[in-house]
Amino acid sequence: MIRLTIPSIEKDDLDAVSEALASGYLVQGPRVAAFEEKLAAKVGVPHAIAVSNCTAALQLSLLALDMRPGDLVLVTAYSWIATANAIELSGAQPVFVDVDPETFNMAPAALAEKLSSLRAVGETSRRVRAILPVHTFGQMADMDAINAIAKDVPVIEDAACALGARWNGRQAGAASTMGCFSFHPRKAITTGEGGAITTRDADLAKRLRALRNHGQDPTAPSPDFIMPGFNMRLTEMQAALGQTQLAKLDRIVTARRRLAALYDAAFAKTAITPPRVPAASEPVYQSYVVLLPKEAPRATIIAKMRERGVETTIGTWHMPLTSFYKARYGHRPGEFPATDDVFARSMTLPLYESMTDAQIAEVAQALIDLVAR
Ligand SMILES: Cc1ncc(COP(=O)(O)O)c(C=O)c1O
Repeated sequence: MIRLTIPSIEKDDLDAVSEALASGYLVQGPRVAAFEEKLAAKVGVPHAIAVSNCTAALQLSLLALDMRPGDLVLVTAYSWIATANAIELSGAQPVFVDVDPETFNMAPAALAEKLSSLRAVGETSRRVRAILPVHTFGQMADMDAINAIAKDVPVIEDAACALGARWNGRQAGAASTMGCFSFHPRKAITTGEGGAITTRDADLAKRLRALRNHGQDPTAPSPDFIMPGFNMRLTEMQAALGQTQLAKLDRIVTARRRLAALYDAAFAKTAITPPRVPAASEPVYQSYVVLLPKEAPRATIIAKMRERGVETTIGTWHMPLTSFYKARYGHRPGEFPATDDVFARSMTLPLYESMTDAQIAEVAQALIDLVAR
């Protein structure tokens, strides 16, 4: 079976984890601090706060902005459900924004329209507290346009899939108020479970460090608790792995880009649409996601690909049309036309560093054959 993904785990990764275990210091110690320092340097910001996963990173970044019931957070409609859940569970309400049908990212024009309709009414204008674009499948959203539209509203990047990606030369996680990363095994580098928040803002960094550790003041010489907080810490074993993985990031991303270009070439002049990469964008291809022609029976194609030994899946989720958000806010098909379309037609193909050119060719040909039928 050609798997959707296989993490790049090598001997130095195994050694780093064993060494951390053998040290007897297992939680939130020197390896976590060193991992945070290296991650911050990589992203190009002064602060990185390691947490237990990206869902925690999103929750803490919203809480650090002091989200309250009734607050509104504008968020892309097409993402893994954790993005919307973090908003809902912070007490705020997600206000979904449609995507660009070719890049799968929040469409700046749709954001501008929704924001201006909220700003037109004093009551809703006051409730707008944050904008949460997602760097879908490892390609950054148009952060220049989004920041310009946001003006003074804080922007949180869901950069779960996008460590190493750039937009106009700016790194994911460095293009807004806060960036949230995931180190789940389906990402380019992994710590098993794991996440982090990056920021330039020292005050937010302090709040985030307190929130992840029971509300404890991270700067006080003796323990004191400055707010209610969670235990959302990273272990030393994960941070040891994070450091060895981070050292491989550029190599892994280079390989993923090369393999993605092979897929692009294979799908040129076919009915399958490869992902569009705007000129400003340097994606990391956390997932390689194509659009099938409208009439193609996607579920059957996914099943037939499996029969041929290739694991594939849908792209990601139409969050407003999942049962909970549909029932709670009355969303309906047609409200987010681009999301409706890409949710129905997108398909994720295998992509990982150790994939061979022959495997890429095999997957591409199998898909081209099945779509042609
Ligand atoms: C866009 C996006 N946001 C958030 C998450 C949540 O990340 P984690 O699994 O680390 O909690 C994911 C995970 O796949 C994701 O793809």
